Amino acid sequence: MSHIVNSYNRLKIPIIRGEGMYLFDQGGKKYLDFAAGIATTSLGHCHPYIVEKLKEQLDSLWHCSNLLTIPQQALLAERLVSLTFADKIFFYSSGLEATEAAIKFIRRYFYIKGRKKRNRIITIEGGFHGRSIAAISAGGNERSREGFAPLLSGFDKVPKNNIQALEEKISDETAAVFLEPIQSEGGVYSLDVEYLQQVRQVTKDQGIILCFDEVQCGYGRIGSLFHYQNIGIEPDILTCAKAMGNGFPIAACLTKDYIAEAITPGTHGSTYGGNPLAMTVGNAVLDIMLKEGFFTHVQKVSKYLRKKLLYLAEKFSKKVLEVRGEGLLIGIELKSPIADKIVDQCCSKGLMLTKILNNRVIRVTPPLIVKNEHIDIACDILYDSIASNF
Ligand SMILES: Cc1ncc(COP(=O)(O)O)c(C=O)c1O
Repeated sequence: MSHIVNSYNRLKIPIIRGEGMYLFDQGGKKYLDFAAGIATTSLGHCHPYIVEKLKEQLDSLWHCSNLLTIPQQALLAERLVSLTFADKIFFYSSGLEATEAAIKFIRRYFYIKGRKKRNRIITIEGGFHGRSIAAISAGGNERSREGFAPLLSGFDKVPKNNIQALEEKISDETAAVFLEPIQSEGGVYSLDVEYLQQVRQVTKDQGIILCFDEVQCGYGRIGSLFHYQNIGIEPDILTCAKAMGNGFPIAACLTKDYIAEAITPGTHGSTYGGNPLAMTVGNAVLDIMLKEGFFTHVQKVSKYLRKKLLYLAEKFSKKVLEVRGEGLLIGIELKSPIADKIVDQCCSKGLMLTKILNNRVIRVTPPLIVKNEHIDIACDILYDSIASNF
């Protein structure tokens, strides 16, 4: 009997090693990893450069707290500021902490401005922002909320891609709009770019904050460092995590200066966030992602993957409803809820995938270092498994 709280339907495979695109179980069986630890190990398992940097840091300093100056943290912040819209950054250990930070930054900004009533946040139905009480109050589905009442008030949900509904929801109590530009856990739905442009305009006109949650879609997965850069729409706050640490727990909240000014010593913090180990890994990840040709590679393999999956959708049009998503964040929606069976079968054939949206969507999120030859192997296994499951 397992002594782990039963909050995940785990595959009963003890995984003990990872190398590049592959995971290995206790019996030595090899799995092509197109799940990447839920879109996290973007540079592949145990990337030698990151391992080397982490080993060096292990011998010098693990932790000292944010009461001291951490040079690696200052460096990563400086690099991210130079690459993005942001002026200031605070680091965390998980995506949900970045969500909490965004909510706090938003509320505190209006509080300091003397507009204390402006504290409500508009979120989008189907969005996911983590598992804390604040995060499930902001997003999530009924199942993730059920039994956890009382939830936090102060969130107003609107349907996706409906600018009129959003405009109607804005009141003099609205502080911000907080959304995932690509809803990932919610089924891999990209919000329309035109809608996002309108949201940007409306938030600007109304003097309210726009926050993008790029925890899953950010950090290279869509072919540039952040997805907002692909679509040319700048938020005022952005949350990110997952691929930032390639499996080492790192997250961040990026913000404009005028919002960050509302946070002063004693108002916010994190014991582990931005510690020397995490920041060493964060810098090493960025070293690799910023190498010439890295994002071009992601764009090229994304096109190849899409082409192959669209072929699969066409071939199995009676079984597959739609292939959607962007870059290397793709969902295959089935016409019946048997994603679990297909994912299990792929796993037994040596391919790791994940399933979401009430078992209807197979999610494909390979590491960004994936090559066409891996995509060929994965698609062959997927074809076989879909074919034999209907
Ligand atoms: C878009 C998004 N935001 C926030 C989170 C929460 O991140 P974490 O699980 O690291 O708390 C997730 C996790 O999947 C996510 O996909």
